[in-house]
Amino acid sequence: MPEARPDLAAPIDLGGEGTPVQEAPALCPAPGARLFLKREDLAGQEYGGNKVRKLEHLLATARDQGRPVLTTGAVGSHHVLATAWYGRRLGIAVHAVLGPQPATPHVEQTARASAGLLAGAWPVPRWPLLPAQAAVVAHELERRHGVAPLLVPPGGSSVEGCLGSVRLGLELGRDVAEGRLPEPDQLYLPVGSGGTAAGLWVGLRAAGLGTRLVGVRVAPALLSNRAHVRALAHGLCRRLGWHLRLASDDLVLDTAHLGAGYGHPTAAGEQALARARDTAGLSLESTYSAKAMAACLAHLSGAPTGRVALFLVTANSKPLDPLLASAPPTLPAPLRALLGSPIQR
Ligand SMILES: Cc1ncc(COP(=O)(O)O)c(C=O)c1O
Repeated sequence: MPEARPDLAAPIDLGGEGTPVQEAPALCPAPGARLFLKREDLAGQEYGGNKVRKLEHLLATARDQGRPVLTTGAVGSHHVLATAWYGRRLGIAVHAVLGPQPATPHVEQTARASAGLLAGAWPVPRWPLLPAQAAVVAHELERRHGVAPLLVPPGGSSVEGCLGSVRLGLELGRDVAEGRLPEPDQLYLPVGSGGTAAGLWVGLRAAGLGTRLVGVRVAPALLSNRAHVRALAHGLCRRLGWHLRLASDDLVLDTAHLGAGYGHPTAAGEQALARARDTAGLSLESTYSAKAMAACLAHLSGAPTGRVALFLVTANSKPLDPLLASAPPTLPAPLRALLGSPIQR
């Protein structure tokens, strides 16, 4: 347990706190096991998902320091869209350097919504060009605004942003303490930039839960790896002044569900997406949550009686209409060029 717990209230309220927990018996593949869902998809005032709590920290910093935001991600990044949406609501100019991603209807819609909300979209045709372009854009924004932009890494996974995921772990502690959830043996979630897993790791341990994290890798190993998650978790402990034991077998990284790469749907993922929709009414997407659900269902089938698993529903499930109100009818050509050939489903 931490020696001293600093105030971990959200510095601004975007509606991230207090998401529901529900059991999903018809989705659970093993008769004696129990599968619960933590509905982060319902977080947020208009746009949900696992980025909302991170943005409650990141956008507070940008607002308080009067700085624009510069972030990066794939052209259909949920993180970029969430940052652009909540940034606009707070009067913060959000710019993004955007890289390529395979085209799906969901990706295209997300990209279109972002295009209408971003103060600036700066495409790069290949991922390795992204850091250099971000440096150029940061320089340009400082010239325009007279102040350096707040640089927000992919997925919002700076130590500051991950404080939001620590709060999620602490909230799960309260869900258990107050009887909404039996203590889970495992918590399943997709791992992209790794910040959600890192924050949860710290928050769960600080809450006194022994739940093991099972992260499902959905991005290249360069971004999405155990060492990165561990470094972020240790950075969080230092930032918070908490002394926690983070054992190396606390975090399992399942690397078997990436398929052809980031954003490429997999057959198992699409089957899991359909099963989650039909049995629990969830709306998952192919890049992150479908692959994590496929791993969760595979691990759980044949699980022993009494096993309790928790799945973190990380993708927004609220209607996108308010975010699409300012979207161009078709994606501007420089952004369209970032979409790979359409994926055949
Ligand atoms: C729907 C969804 N799930 C999971 C993740 C991964 O979270 P993290 O980047 O914190 O690992 C993302 C990140 O972009 C996401 O959009």
